[in-house]
Amino acid sequence: MVNRYRNAVIFGGSGFIGRYIVRRLAKTGCQVVVPSRHPGQATYLRSAGAVGQIVPIAVDIHDDQSVANAVAGADLVINLIGILAQSGRNSFEAVQHQAAARIARAAKAAGVRRFVQMSALGADASSRSAYATSKAQGEQAVLSAFPSATIFRPSIVFGPEDGFFNRFAAMSQTAPFLPLIGGGNTRMQPVYVGDVADAIVAAVETEGTEGKIYELAGPRTYTFKELIDLTLAQVGRPKKCTLSLGFGMASLLGGILQNLPGQMLTADQVELLKTDNVVSGAKPGLTDLGVQPTAVEVILPTYLDKYRIGGRFTQPVSPAS
Ligand SMILES: NC(=O)c1ccc[n+]([C@@H]2O[C@H](COP(=O)([O-])OP(=O)(O)OC[C@H]3O[C@@H](n4cnc5c(N)ncnc54)[C@H](OP(=O)(O)O)[C@@H]3O)[C@@H](O)[C@H]2O)c1
Repeated sequence: MVNRYRNAVIFGGSGFIGRYIVRRLAKTGCQVVVPSRHPGQATYLRSAGAVGQIVPIAVDIHDDQSVANAVAGADLVINLIGILAQSGRNSFEAVQHQAAARIARAAKAAGVRRFVQMSALGADASSRSAYATSKAQGEQAVLSAFPSATIFRPSIVFGPEDGFFNRFAAMSQTAPFLPLIGGGNTRMQPVYVGDVADAIVAAVETEGTEGKIYELAGPRTYTFKELIDLTLAQVGRPKKCTLSLGFGMASLLGGILQNLPGQMLTADQVELLKTDNVVSGAKPGLTDLGVQPTAVEVILPTYLDKYRIGGRFTQPVSPAS
């Protein structure tokens, strides 16, 4: 039997992954509320539904009453809120642990039927990375407030608006080289954003996914260096335009850059790169939800072509050159 929802509330629905989930849920006919710090910046989502179907609202995720107001009347709540760098009161602990707990508690109190929590591969309460520990604590807090919640742990997510391939492709246009942190040996399994959204929608529509943790990954494992080489090939630069940067030096650099506007790199991100970002094999994944993983090589050319030297109609160079 397919579960249908009348009122979905998607925290973080204005972000990269969120917009794909908002669009898919809107197609099922449900009302979609998107709580955001900047609801004005989320109005672009409205065109994905009928008039009045997608509604951005203001929320303060650090405030119980504000969160309770946001989830009132919902039958489905999805929490996608996450940050890669801390600033001010938006620490990993406050955003990825305490706010996740607050949203799950409010959803339970409001009688919400289904809850989805977006975590990440590498979530680990004993990690030296504050990002990874807060994701693990967020999972635990959500499950204790809302035991039937479904948790998703994706590897790096790619797609037209991603922060990984776009960042390195943009950097390659001006920087003389791209940094291979830790020598570029960290292993990753990039997963396509459309597949992540399909998996989440499939999970909430299907009985038997409650209380489970899904690890979401693409069809192949790559090293960080291989992903940088793929990016360089797409933008038409030879793969020798890279520089190996040891973890120690990268951590020092991150410690400086994290205090500058834009926070291009943080020491915590360097810490994360010390651990492979691949599935454990012990948890269900995309195919268990009926989703066939899409290869990076199929999608990258469709959005990295805008960075290509000589214009988007020139041919990418071979990654082997
Ligand atoms: N992208 C990846 O490669 C990847 C990999 C693994 C896991 N994830 C997880 O997937 C989730 C979504 O990631 P994404 O790539 O879509 O990130 P994103 O584009 O940065 O979106 C993050 C969302 O979180 C919201 N948010 C952040 N801080 C907030 C705060 N203090 N109050 C209210 N809203 C806040 C933002 O909303 P406003 O700014 O509009 O308020 C935005 O909608 C995150 O939990 C992330 O950790 C992502």
